[in-house]
Amino acid sequence: MTEPRSKARLVILISGRGSNMRSIVEAASKNELAVDIAAVISNRPDAAGLEFAQQAGINTEVIDHKQFDSRERFDSAMAEAIDAYQPDFVILAGFMRILTADFVEHYSGRLLNIHPSLLPKFKGLHTHERAIEAGETEHGASVHFVTAELDDGPVILQARVPVLPDDDADTLAARVLEQEHLLYPAAIQKLVSQQTE
Ligand code: GAR
Repeated sequence: MTEPRSKARLVILISGRGSNMRSIVEAASKNELAVDIAAVISNRPDAAGLEFAQQAGINTEVIDHKQFDSRERFDSAMAEAIDAYQPDFVILAGFMRILTADFVEHYSGRLLNIHPSLLPKFKGLHTHERAIEAGETEHGASVHFVTAELDDGPVILQARVPVLPDDDADTLAARVLEQEHLLYPAAIQKLVSQQTE
């Protein structure tokens, strides 16, 4: 008889508010998402999301990028901390650091990001402003595998929202964020269920 597979293990990286991390934690606690969250790691000591994770009983760590004199040294400290938890997937959830090619390569096929646009449109920052300025009638969010090029890896799932005539960047961002909170757990569940097929 084969042993039942244990749940996929996630390490989630955040830099701030952590609302996407929270949606993943909540989906896991409601068993909508079959994962164990091994740790939440932030590059900023003041990331608001850390408190939620601690209160949810999740291991948290801070690896402050300001304490490192190079991107390479920061990324290797991150990788060492992450690997101690032996995750199946590493989840970037509002993690606002550019990663080195070595780091991305180390997690090839198991490093995911959520980006607030319908990739390949609007890579980079200020996506909501740029979508409005470009006269888009539709906008959204993408969960994708991370590759060495910024916001460029294969898309796993996308969510679409309309751009309304009186939208500003804030109203549009709020509409997209609501969808992000459904999209990220759904994309992770898609991968996890493929893994156990
Ligand atoms: C989210 O909107 C996410 O898509 C975006 O940052 C926000 C983080 O919010 N990520 C990026 O722009 C990555 N390029 P959260 O901390 O509340 O999850």
